[in-house]
Amino acid sequence: MLSKKMEKAFNDQIKWEYFSAYLYLSLSAYFTNTGLPGFANWMDVQFQEEQFHARRMFDYVNEKGGRVTLQAIDAPQNTWKSPLAAFEFALNHEYAVTKRINDLMTLAQKENDHASAIFLQWFVSEQVEEEASFGDTVNKLKLVGDGGGLFLLDRELATRVFVQPTVA
Ligand code: FEO
Repeated sequence: MLSKKMEKAFNDQIKWEYFSAYLYLSLSAYFTNTGLPGFANWMDVQFQEEQFHARRMFDYVNEKGGRVTLQAIDAPQNTWKSPLAAFEFALNHEYAVTKRINDLMTLAQKENDHASAIFLQWFVSEQVEEEASFGDTVNKLKLVGDGGGLFLLDRELATRVFVQPTVA
């Protein structure tokens, strides 16, 4: 069983995960339109990752006998002034997600909900990877600037494929 507070917090986070997916799909469209298909591919993979995050929470709420209530998803931003600005925007979004996951964990601890705290542990670790992965590309973009390096980085990002994350 899930407390009403935890149920609401999970429902809010499911919306956030789907909003994240929507944002990365919007970034994919931006990169396609900018002539950077490798960057677009990277964001397409991230779109799939976020849907996986949302679905995990969706399944958990159901498994705990809670009630999933899907909420309206806001329209994401759809243009940025440069590839670097776009990736910095995404990295900042991930920082906000990390804060939300930490707040969820704190709530689970306050509610003495050990099962939810253990479940959320995976998301805490996942956010470390998420921040590192976005931060790595931000750093590379700062190094290459607007020159030919952008073309090489595009080829590198084209190789990313979606691998369903391992769940302990
Ligand atoms: Fe679901 Fe990128 O955090």
